[in-house]
Amino acid sequence: MKKIHLIVGARPNFMKMAPLYKEFAKFPKEFEIKLIHTGQHYDERMSKFFFDDLQMPKPDEYLEVGSGTHGKQTAKIMERYEEVLLKDKPDLVIVAGDVNSTSACAIDAVKLHIPVAHLEAGLRSFARSMPEEINRILTDAISDYLLTPSPDGDENLLAEGVPEEKIFFVGNIMIDSLMQYQDRAKGSDILERIGIRNDYALITLHRPSNVDNKKGLLTILNAFEEISKSINLIFPIHPRTTKQIQAFDLEEKVKKMKNLHLIPPVGYYDFLKLQMDAKFILTDSGGIQEESTYFGVPCLTLRPNTERPITITQGTNTLVKLNTDDIINEAKIILTGNIKKGSIPKYWDGKTAERIVKIFKDN
Ligand code: UD1
Ligand code: UDP
Repeated sequence: MKKIHLIVGARPNFMKMAPLYKEFAKFPKEFEIKLIHTGQHYDERMSKFFFDDLQMPKPDEYLEVGSGTHGKQTAKIMERYEEVLLKDKPDLVIVAGDVNSTSACAIDAVKLHIPVAHLEAGLRSFARSMPEEINRILTDAISDYLLTPSPDGDENLLAEGVPEEKIFFVGNIMIDSLMQYQDRAKGSDILERIGIRNDYALITLHRPSNVDNKKGLLTILNAFEEISKSINLIFPIHPRTTKQIQAFDLEEKVKKMKNLHLIPPVGYYDFLKLQMDAKFILTDSGGIQEESTYFGVPCLTLRPNTERPITITQGTNTLVKLNTDDIINEAKIILTGNIKKGSIPKYWDGKTAERIVKIFKDN
């Protein structure tokens, strides 16, 4: 019997761990699974909504770390998770993605000589100014099993000198959740609730580089103002961005855009529905670049780089510079019917959890 901890902390972790939790649960004689929630995200709409929609049980441990500076948050996670590890002594810890909870829990485990598996390994934006890039590099450097979503992940790891036998191309686990719940999502009444009957573009925004300085945030809001003259915009707003709009006194500016529908963050089914029916998506999210590629919906990513290049080379994603005119022009290209077509990358097929569990049955 292998005892395994699955770590979640922030919104993008839940849809990655849910399919794995369910797949391991099919083999109760071989695996004892514990779900550990660090509490990095804690608002109902950033956490509990996903446990409900993704049909996940309550976490076995809830560390309640909350928000803080990088140092404080990482330290709190490490201090509290180490206690759990010492008490519970798992045989393996699985972490996902690139948030602070990912690297903090991986460091804890590896220092206690507990093997670590990193789900979504090998992705690189090559921009060390991004906190996520640091989390990715750290986590990959100390993980024993590097589970990659796309061949570029394997290439990056090999280029960094990671031995081939540690790398497993398993595919994109977010797509497991998406495929499982897309029919249910189709039935969401979110558009009626917002009162939208016509075309719309969907927006999300939360990268510190876009929202933590007034100039950058204004550059983007000015573009939204212009685009909203041609199409409705639906903007489920991340708590970091809400906080920054208040801090920079931009609430009036946002309120004045009459076709901009600002709503609180929405649950998983509602958000999938908003993506699948959107004319296009404007975002700086990691996961949404992938989900929009799966749906075949054009995605304009407001970033100078991406750790998910396959969404550009094969999918429907386009990078857009942080410049008001560039953002408006890219939106206009789509609005005039010039729509980027893509295809679904290999192993984004709903079977990634199955491939991962097989690895741990065999090893
Ligand atoms: C984090 C991740 C980021 C990921 C994003 C997904 C890191 C370094 N960043 O960014 O990679 O893309 O989650 O959404 O791990 N807040 C609330 N309620 C919550 C959570 C946060 O109000 O439930 C507010 C707090 O003011 C907090 C701020 O949002 O200070 C930022 O939260 P934090 O978890 O530090 O970073 P994110 O921007 O959410
Ligand atoms: N998402 C959601 N509701 C929202 C915004 C996003 O359910 O209001 C989902 C989205 O479908 C995707 C994940 O959250 O599965 C992406 O998380 P986020 O953008 O917060 O993080 P990132 O991927 O950038 O790390």
